[in-house]
Amino acid sequence: MDAKNTLVQHSIVGTLSILLVLILRFALSLTWSKSFSRVSVILLFIVLIIGPISKLRKTEKCSTLLMMPGCWRGELGIWFAIIALAHFLIVGVPRKFLGLIEIGGSGFGLTNLIGLVALILTLILTVTSFGKVITFLGVESWRKLHGLTYVVFYLVFAHLIYFQFFSTYGQIGPDWFGYLAAVMAIIVILLQIAAFMKIVTKKI
Ligand code: HEM
Repeated sequence: MDAKNTLVQHSIVGTLSILLVLILRFALSLTWSKSFSRVSVILLFIVLIIGPISKLRKTEKCSTLLMMPGCWRGELGIWFAIIALAHFLIVGVPRKFLGLIEIGGSGFGLTNLIGLVALILTLILTVTSFGKVITFLGVESWRKLHGLTYVVFYLVFAHLIYFQFFSTYGQIGPDWFGYLAAVMAIIVILLQIAAFMKIVTKKI
């Protein structure tokens, strides 16, 4: 658990995230929407691998910041939410939001609905990522609530896989990011399995 969000860590994660968005936008000529969405997925990936890695390495406490990836989880999670929200606003404002989710429409509406559910859950998790809220909720309830991060993972990856592999919107077929995202998803699932196996074998 990462109950302490420090200003220094927020500045580092925020600056690097914005820098990466700018690199994707100007060096790789992606749209703003895609630049923000891709960086948000990278941040989510890092958040998701930190949990099982900490379990496998048995490093829960934040003593030396750089050596303890778990100490960055709160900040990474909050910046994931900010960047994902920016992606939603960039996509939604020109379409006045309602055009994104049309009942009876194509898979485009369904995948946007999946993205919206992921975003709402993300914002709930973000509000409950601040130290004072964690203290208010209690560690046990907080842990249960934050198990929902994996629901966000599956929803975000369903949303992403649709746009990369199945959509007829924009460029058809995956690019480098589609394949990278598939590898990231496999890594997250394998690490989850490894952390689970470690807990099970410890009990035997
Ligand atoms: C946690 C929330 C979200 C994340 C992490 C996310 C992430 C992504 C990713 C990774 C892509 C693929 C971009 C690419 O191929 O490069 C994408 C595309 C897209 N997303 Fe989301 N998304 C989220 C929420 C939403 C919401 C709420 C909507 C609208 C209701 C939405 C609408 C779109 C649209 C229209 C695209 C098509 C491509 C584009 O112009 O970027 N997304 N999203």
